[in-house]
Parts: sequence; structure tokens; C-alpha cells
Amino acid sequence: MKILIVGSGGREDVLAWKIAKSKRCDELFCAPGNAGTSRYATNVAIAAEDIEKLRDFAKANDIGLTVVGPEDSLCGGIVDAFQREGLRIFGPTADAARLEGDKAYAKQLMRQAAIPTADGRIFENYTQARNYIASRDIGLVVKAAGLAKGKGAIVCDEPSLALRALENIMVKRIFGEAGAKVVVEEKLAGPEVSIQALVDGRTIYVLESAQDHKAVGDGDVGPNTGGMGAYCPADVLDDKMFSQVYREVLVPVVDAMNRQGITYRGVLYIGLMLTPGGPKVLEFNCRFGDPEAQVVLTRLQNDLVDVFEAVIDGRLEEVDLCWDSRSTVCVVMAAPGYPDAYAKGKVIHGLDRASEIPDVMVFHGGTEHRGAEIVTNGGRVLGVTAWGDDIRAARDRAYQVAELISFDGGALYRRDIAHQAIENC
Ligand code: AMP
Ligand code: GLY
Repeated sequence: MKILIVGSGGREDVLAWKIAKSKRCDELFCAPGNAGTSRYATNVAIAAEDIEKLRDFAKANDIGLTVVGPEDSLCGGIVDAFQREGLRIFGPTADAARLEGDKAYAKQLMRQAAIPTADGRIFENYTQARNYIASRDIGLVVKAAGLAKGKGAIVCDEPSLALRALENIMVKRIFGEAGAKVVVEEKLAGPEVSIQALVDGRTIYVLESAQDHKAVGDGDVGPNTGGMGAYCPADVLDDKMFSQVYREVLVPVVDAMNRQGITYRGVLYIGLMLTPGGPKVLEFNCRFGDPEAQVVLTRLQNDLVDVFEAVIDGRLEEVDLCWDSRSTVCVVMAAPGYPDAYAKGKVIHGLDRASEIPDVMVFHGGTEHRGAEIVTNGGRVLGVTAWGDDIRAARDRAYQVAELISFDGGALYRRDIAHQAIENC
């Protein structure tokens, strides 16, 4: 079968790597892809958001399965558009993807379904939001309700900072129209963990847990990014919490959507904070996390195409998921300046040497070919992902390889990925 992957980041590169191994895959395309995906797929110059062109490409090329990586395409209705033409596609419909695309909708749904989350209020009016924040004397998080590339939540230790965040989001529109509506919620404390589940409308399979590192700097300082590194498994979530999250979050959210007439099919990602009062939901995403996908899919032993098809056909219960017993760690190498302004087009060195090291994959995010060279083409450039007998061994190998790689103008990466897991060993 011919398969198309939509997207161009590290998540799509690991999807392409894994799908290329499938016995069901005869030919693989990636739109638009990156220099990494061209190792195992034919890149097609169509933007991930150009739903009509992607649909026409899938029809014209007899694509048997399309797998969508990014949230913008899902929230924009790519799955609905493909389904209308009878094309098979993995991912939630636009209605279902609202769980990620509209944080206000997600908050309301959690409230209705009594899902544990931070207390929060939704505002479409700047003055009302400002008055509310001014009346509070606790740490707050101000979130643009719409899509903001994972950067739309501003964590504020005191209300004066929250007022500034609100002005930036609602008045200065630093996240564009995503900031027309905001969610203002209490600041929670505790370790964070991400859960990704496969959902076929009814059956929910939780994948191995992973921990992302959102802040740009070592020690979790600085602004939030899309994610600077991850590791799997994340033992911070014990079995008891795991079943609590299944019972109190996953089942109620899928049920609540079914009650609204929305069938959730695809990956459901839950960002959780493990507070002293139990796990609470920070966010839902309607797709694999990036870089969580890099550390989770590299441990999954199943044929991914079989798994995705079972989700599409609503027969996930027939699938048994098998996991590599080793641990994985991904260190993201970014362009200096990320998550703010950064330069593109910087030559990347050392990829050949890195590819000689066993038990490591260097997944590409923002990269492209320029003649014989590979150059940077985005904020998060590479995800150096290593396997090891434990997290420490995987971490050491990932850093050993990261040190072999350099970008003209320098590379930015955290030196403390997986530190929580290693300190707890
Ligand atoms: P979100 O996009 O909603 O997941 O938020 C991005 C990041 O902001 C999360 O991964 C947390 O690190 C932080 N965050 C979000 N909501 C809260 C909260 N209520 N309390 C503390 N930190 C939060
Ligand atoms: N790494 C977090 C995300 O993909 O949203």
C-alpha cells in the first residue's frame, strides 16, 4: 500500500522511520517532510495545512493510508475532507480535535465531565479578564485558547506578571488570533508527565508514558517551547496513578465526546501535572507529542500500520501492543534564539559520524537539503534519540551523539534531559 505522512517535524520523521519498516508499506510519501524523512520517503512539496492539495494528491496517487502529524491540519479538518472522498486517514475529525484547538472548549468539557484539572475561567473580554486577575493573589497561568505551537501558556508566579501576559496575549496578540479568547487558571505544582493513548471511538490503549521538558533552559527555566527533550518510560507515574488517569480522565473524556455525538479516533495526548491532590490535566492534544513520539514510537515493536488501521476500523481491542524493554531518551537540538526569533539556513555538521553510532537515531525536525549539505530550517532542528538498558545509559548515548553534531552559529540544547528520572534511580 502507498502511505502518505503529513507534516515536517521530528514527530513526522519518527513516524516515517517506523512506517517505512511496516510490511504493509510499499511506497512512502511525506508532505512536505524534511531532510530526515527523505531517508525513507519521497518528500512532496505540499504544505501540511494545504488540505485540498493533499486530498488531491492522495486521490491522484492512490494513497491507501494517510497519517497526520500536526494539530493545525487536524483542527483544520483534514480528516473530514479525506473521509468525504472515501480516503483512509488516521487522526481525529475537526470536531474531536477541538480538544486541542480550543482550550476553552476543553476546559468546559472537563468541568462537565468532572475531570480533574486546574480551576480556571474563560474570557473573551480583556477588561473582564484583567479585573479577574487583579482580584487574585495566587500564581496564575494565562493561556491563549487557540493553537499557538505549544507556546501559548504563560506561567506567572504573581498576578502582576499575569496582567502583563494577558496584555501580550489579548491586546498585543503575540499568538495572533489564538489569543482572542483566554483561559486563566490557577498555577499548579508538581512533576509533569505526558500520556498518549490510542482511541478508536470506544477502546482506549494507553501507550508507555513519557516526560517532556517544556522550558528552554536547564533546570526548567526560561520560556516554554514545543519540547526540548523527552524520555520513556516516565516512572514518575506509578501504576496507581496510571489507572486513576485512565478511570478519571481518559474514559470520561471519550464518553463525554460520544455523548456530544463526536467519535474520537486517533491519538489522544494528555499533559498532566502530578499535584499533591492527584493528577490534574493541563492540556489535551489531538496527536502525538513532539518529542514524545520520538521516545515512545522507538520502543513500540508492533507494525504501526496495523495499529493505525485498527484504530480507523474501530477494532483496536484486537491489537496487542509490544514494547522494547529498553529505555529511550531524546535530546532536542535547536537553533540559538528558539523559541523566539532564530536564524535558518545554517549548515549542520557531524550527521554522518552520528549515524555510525549504534542504538541512536537522529530524527530531523527543521532541516532541509541545500545542495550536498543539510541545513537548519526551523527552531527545533534535530532530536537525537538513543536506546539504553536504562534511562541513564540512553541519556549518556544521546549526549555522546549530540556532541558529535554542530550547526554553523551554534546549537542550543539542554544538558539535563531526563534528570528527574536519573535523580530518582
Ligand atoms: P499547556 O500548553 O496548557 O500544556 O501548557 C504548557 C506548559 O505550561 C505545561 O507543560 C506546564 O509546564 C505549564 N502549565 C500549564 N498549565 C499550568 C498550570 N495550571 N499550572 C502550572 N503550570 C502549567
Ligand atoms: N511536546 C509537547 C507537545 O507536543 O505538545
